[in-house]
Amino acid sequence: MRLILLGPPGAGKGTQAVSVAKEFSIPHISTGDIFRLNIKQGTQLGLKAKSILDSGLLVPDDLVVEIVEDRLKQEDCKNGFLLDGFPRTIVQAKSLDTILNNSNISLNFAINIQVDKSILVERAVGRRICKECGATYHVLFKPSKNPDSCELCGGELYQRPDDNEKTVSKRIEVYLRETAPLIEYYKSSGVLATIDGQKPIDMVLEEIFKLLRKDKV
Ligand code: AP5
Ligand code: MG
Ligand code: ZN
Repeated sequence: MRLILLGPPGAGKGTQAVSVAKEFSIPHISTGDIFRLNIKQGTQLGLKAKSILDSGLLVPDDLVVEIVEDRLKQEDCKNGFLLDGFPRTIVQAKSLDTILNNSNISLNFAINIQVDKSILVERAVGRRICKECGATYHVLFKPSKNPDSCELCGGELYQRPDDNEKTVSKRIEVYLRETAPLIEYYKSSGVLATIDGQKPIDMVLEEIFKLLRKDKV
């Protein structure tokens, strides 16, 4: 199964990606997570990416494409992959097409998780992430059973530096300008599937599973 997840900041891409990747035994590749890991480790890439992520703008296309191309060459992508947060521009989408064409493979679906702009800020600002295992919570919609720590591993919960109202608004603006045109792009290539992302987390997942299981049989 070769999938990409499209959707604005806070739509639920990462939340759904974890369950979908597990169900279909494919790697979950989040370009945002790759940048955050590099920032944490203080690599050259991390140093370049930090101010860009903090401002809510996009990392340059050539840099992102090179990272994804290398990642897709790895052994665990042989049976498929789930891309979360890539592609994010038409240039990135065309580069992905070239990478896949060169290997004679194509996407099964570009899943667009649709969420109204009005609730995106609340989703992102209330997000909390475990420092240890990366589990994602929400103060209202998916609270941890332990008040200030991860219910899975006891790790401390933190807030992403770009999850403040001002930066989230910037990210939404960048999404609308740079990424939303990909919906038409994938509609034209016949792989677009739209999912209502405003339902509760488990119902959104069920809709995605329905779509993917239909494709399997
Ligand atoms: P990235 O990390 O990809 O951030 P994003 O696209 O802004 O998306 P988010 O991670 O904020 O949202 P999500 O859809 O994953 O939501 P989640 O499931 O966590 O990118 C960060 C930055 O990296 C970019 O700004 C850019 O600088 C750079 N970057 C990354 N990729 C790039 C690329 N390809 N090119 C250039 N630059 C790139 O859910 C959010 C919250 O809502 C959580 O708290 C969750 O619990 C809750 N929630 C989820 N679903 C539901 C639901 N159905 N109901 C209620 N609550 C829900
Ligand atoms: Mg995410
Ligand atoms: Zn944890």
